[in-house]
Amino acid sequence: MVLSGNDKTNVKNVFAKIGGHAEEYGGETLERMFATYPQTKTYFPHFDLAHGSAQVKAHGKKVASALVEAVNRIDDIAGALSKLSDLHAQKLRVDPVNFKLLGQCFLVVVAIHHPSLLTPEVHASLDKFLCAVGSVLTAKYR
Ligand code: HEM
Repeated sequence: MVLSGNDKTNVKNVFAKIGGHAEEYGGETLERMFATYPQTKTYFPHFDLAHGSAQVKAHGKKVASALVEAVNRIDDIAGALSKLSDLHAQKLRVDPVNFKLLGQCFLVVVAIHHPSLLTPEVHASLDKFLCAVGSVLTAKYR
């Protein structure tokens, strides 16, 4: 998934606008993912997944921070997320389809909070970025 210079600018702008809300959006993204695609809950049997769960919020913060890190190192997403790639592909063995589901939910959360931000072009760039993150996190299956 190759991001053009324009895609990178669009993604950076989105995260600049999101600013300090990223962590909260991470939690909302997870809550939507668990509600809309219940099969994703199978990876979190040890979590309280009820609405408002502190565990989901805390995990959402971690996911959002990883996305911010990937944006900050957008020319080296594989390097930025190398450890997480080991974790997801080798230890957690999350089925790759789930990354698309999480990505869709993140797009919806951004769209809800920033309706005017997500023009079709920006939507496409953000989707590409989320696909690139998903590819990195699922690159090390063996
Ligand atoms: C753990 C990021 C997608 C399942 C984590 C952690 C981060 C993270 C930062 C914490 C690592 C640590 O504590 O050292 C991401 C990002 C994703 C993504 C950026 C995609 C954009 C997914 C998906 C699933 C998943 C799609 C499954 C549906 C898990 C599980 C853990 C985890 C089960 C361990 C939770 C725990 O026991 O604390 N992820 N993740 N992740 N992730 Fe992901």
